Amino acid sequence: MSHRGDSRGADNLPARPAGPPKSRILGTGSFLPPLTRTNADLEAMVETSDSWIRERTGIRERRVAPPGMLTSDMAAEAAKAALLSADLPPHKLDLIVVATITPDVPMPATAVFVQQKIGAAPTCPAFDLSAACAGFIYGITVADKFLASGAAEHVLVIGVEMLSRVVNWTDRSTCVLFGDGAGAVVMGRATGDDRGLLGSSIYSDGSLANSLIIPGGGTAAPLSTETIAQRRNTIHMKGQDIFKAAVKNLYSSSQHLVDSMGLHNDDVDWVVPHQANMRIIDQVTMRANYPKGKVLSNIERVGNTSSASIPILLDERVKDGTIKPSDLVLMCALGAGLSWGAALVRM
Ligand code: ACO
Repeated sequence: MSHRGDSRGADNLPARPAGPPKSRILGTGSFLPPLTRTNADLEAMVETSDSWIRERTGIRERRVAPPGMLTSDMAAEAAKAALLSADLPPHKLDLIVVATITPDVPMPATAVFVQQKIGAAPTCPAFDLSAACAGFIYGITVADKFLASGAAEHVLVIGVEMLSRVVNWTDRSTCVLFGDGAGAVVMGRATGDDRGLLGSSIYSDGSLANSLIIPGGGTAAPLSTETIAQRRNTIHMKGQDIFKAAVKNLYSSSQHLVDSMGLHNDDVDWVVPHQANMRIIDQVTMRANYPKGKVLSNIERVGNTSSASIPILLDERVKDGTIKPSDLVLMCALGAGLSWGAALVRM
């Protein structure tokens, strides 16, 4: 599904000038929990090595939430920072969207706890969105529709994950990858210039649902001593299937979006890809022929934080002055579902 773009294959796309954006990013924020788990720490937990992890993934360390901290706590911290940078009081929010696969509880939505923790209006609609690592791209796409239709003036979109609580810490093929954290943006209506969300595209392919899954804890296999003993309440992944699908779909969805907006890869100032694995990022960079210096990364320090990875990286690079107002930023992500997508934003 493409928005203000075209949903056909990249090969037969007509170049189409982008219409004026309907929404824009007013502020960014992020939060990383204080505990760092290094590759050396993992060497003491499973049979692995710092060199294997660095070579295969690019990760040196990741953050882990301390006992007692909740997903909604991290989300609220990122949200408060985004509201501050947008200079918007929380009661002016019309919608809160929390993209997460690690909610505080199965019911209700983590977003309602965030509503309370940030002091948003007590009737502000708040819901969770489950699109795994693509959750932030899905979230800003949803926010754009609310803003474009006039149904909202200010939308808070958060990507947040506490993957440390759903990882099997005895499975070396997954536990080395993931980290905890939160990132957020406040979006508002575009102001008539060229700044804003130029377009986004989102996709899913359920035929690969079992390639990356938490098989227990839902209605298919409710929590029981048996499901827990079998660790079915933790992440199960076919790493190579995900790797191949990620390279293929991150490249094609990004290229498709850029082409469908009548733009060229050279027009993009910064690529902010989902931080899944440095080798995935490198392969997409090579295929699209982006200059390496344009492709931003923080995976070395934070690991794969799923839906939080793009908004954390975006916030870090906005705050350190790398990404400047009016820069054209391409974001792309793929994760469990499979679900994936891309977005082009003029900051
Ligand atoms: N330390 C040491 N050895 C390991 C580790 C580890 N942490 N993990 C796996 N191995 C071993 C395997 O057991 C295997 O050993 P064997 O040959 O004796 O059987 C060997 O290393 C090779 O395993 P592969 O799975 O073939 O390794 P690969 O090169 O594919 O790397 C990895 C594995 C890093 C998981 C890779 O497949 C990958 O990154 N896939 C993408 C997954 C991903 O990013 N998931 C995140 C969620 S989805 C997303 O964000 C896109």
